[in-house]
Amino acid sequence: MKVLVIGGGGREHAICWKLAQSPKVKELYCAPGNAGIAEIARCVDIGVMDFEKMTEFAKKEAFDLVVVGPDDPLAAGLVDALEAAGLRTFGPRKSAAILEGSKAFSKDLMKKYGIPTAAYETFDTPEAALEYLETAPVPVVLKADGLALGKGVLICNTREEAREGVKTLMLDKQFGSAGDRIVVEEFMTGREVSVLSFVDGKTIRIMTSAQDHKRAKDGDQGLNTGGMGTFSPSPFYTPEVDQFCREHIYQPTVDAMAAEGREFKGIIFFGLMLTADGPKVLEYNARFGDPETQVVLPRMKNDIVDVFEACVDGTLDQVELDFEDNAAVCVVLASAGYPEHYEKGYRIEGLEKFKDQDGYYVFHAGSKFDAEGNIVTNGGRVLGVTAKGKDLEEARANAYKAAEWVEFGNKYMRGDIGKAIDELIG
Ligand code: AMP
Ligand code: GLY
Repeated sequence: MKVLVIGGGGREHAICWKLAQSPKVKELYCAPGNAGIAEIARCVDIGVMDFEKMTEFAKKEAFDLVVVGPDDPLAAGLVDALEAAGLRTFGPRKSAAILEGSKAFSKDLMKKYGIPTAAYETFDTPEAALEYLETAPVPVVLKADGLALGKGVLICNTREEAREGVKTLMLDKQFGSAGDRIVVEEFMTGREVSVLSFVDGKTIRIMTSAQDHKRAKDGDQGLNTGGMGTFSPSPFYTPEVDQFCREHIYQPTVDAMAAEGREFKGIIFFGLMLTADGPKVLEYNARFGDPETQVVLPRMKNDIVDVFEACVDGTLDQVELDFEDNAAVCVVLASAGYPEHYEKGYRIEGLEKFKDQDGYYVFHAGSKFDAEGNIVTNGGRVLGVTAKGKDLEEARANAYKAAEWVEFGNKYMRGDIGKAIDELIG
C-alpha cells in the first residue's frame, strides 16, 4: 500500500512510525512532516490547510489510504475534500469533526443523550455571559466554543477573573472567532484521564488509557501548553471506571452522533475527569492526542493498517485491539520559554543514540533541516522521548535516562512527568 499521513508534529511521527511497522505499507509519505519523520517517510512540503494542493497531490499519487492527524483541517473538512477526490481517508468528516470543533455542540449533544459532563450554559454575547456570571458559583470555567490550540479554556477562581475571562475571549478576541460564543461550565475536581478510541460509525474500540501533563512547569504550575509529557496506562483508570465509561460514555457518544446524522469515523479522544460522582467528559477531541499517541501506539500490538481500514470500511466489529502489558512514558523536550517566547534553529545532537534501542523512541515535534542538512530545533515542543518499561516506574526512569541522550540549545523539560505514579505507589 501507498499511504499518506497529513500533519507534521510528534503525533504524526508516532503514526508514521507505527505505519512503517506494517508489512502492508510499501510507500509512506507525510505532508508536511518534519526532520524526524523524513527518516521513515517521504516528506512533501504542503501545508495542512492547503486543501487544493493536498487533494491534487493525493489524487496524482493515487494513495491507497490517507490519514489526517490535526484538528484544524479535520474541522474545516479536509476528509470531505479528499473523499470527494476519490481517496480512502481515515478521519471524521466535517459534520462529525464538530464534536471537537464546537464545544457548544458537544455539550448540547451530551445533555440531549444523557452523557455525564459538567453543568453548563452557552452565551453568544458578552452582556449575557457577564450577567450570568454575577450569580454563578466560582470557581467557574470559561471555554471558547471553537478551536484554540488547546488554550481556549480559562479556569476562573473569582468573579473578577470570570469578568476578565469574558473580556479576553469575547471582546479582545484572543482566540479570534473561536470566542464568538462561549460555554460557561461548572468547575469539577478529580483525576484527569485521556482515553483514545477507534470508531467506524457504529462500533467503538477503546485503546489503553493515558494521562497528559498540560502545564509548562513542575508541580503542574505555569501556563497551559499542548502537553509536556504523558504516561500510559493511567493507574486511576480502573476496571470499574472502564466499565462505567463503556456503558455511559463511549458507545452512547457514537450512537448519539449516528442518531444526529453525523456518523463518526476516526479517532474519538475522550478527556475524562474522574469526579466523586463518577467519570464525566471534560472534552472530546476528534483526533489522536499529542503527546498521548507517543505513549499509546508504541504499546499497541495490532497492525494499525488493519484498524484504519476497518474504520473506513465499517468492519471494526471484527477487530480486537491488543496492547502490551507494560507501560510507557513520554517526556517532551521543549525550547525554554515555550509556550510563550522561545528561540529556534539550534542544532540537535545525539539522535543516533536511539537507533536500535528496543523500547526507546524519539518522536520529532518541531525540527527541520538547516541549509547544511543538520537537524535543528523548529518549534516550542521539539522532541518527545518515549520509553517503555515493565511498569510505570521503570518506564519513567528509562524515559528520563533517554532524555539525556539528546542535546540542543535552550533544551527544557519537566522533571516530574508521571509524578501521579509516585502518589499512587507511595
Ligand atoms: P479542555 O481543553 O476542555 O480539556 O480543557 C483544558 C483543561 O482545563 C482540562 O484538561 C482540565 O484540566 C481543565 N478543565 C476543563 N474543563 C474543566 C471543568 N469543567 N472543571 C475543571 N477543570 C476543567
Ligand atoms: N494532549 C492533549 C491534546 O492532544 O489535545
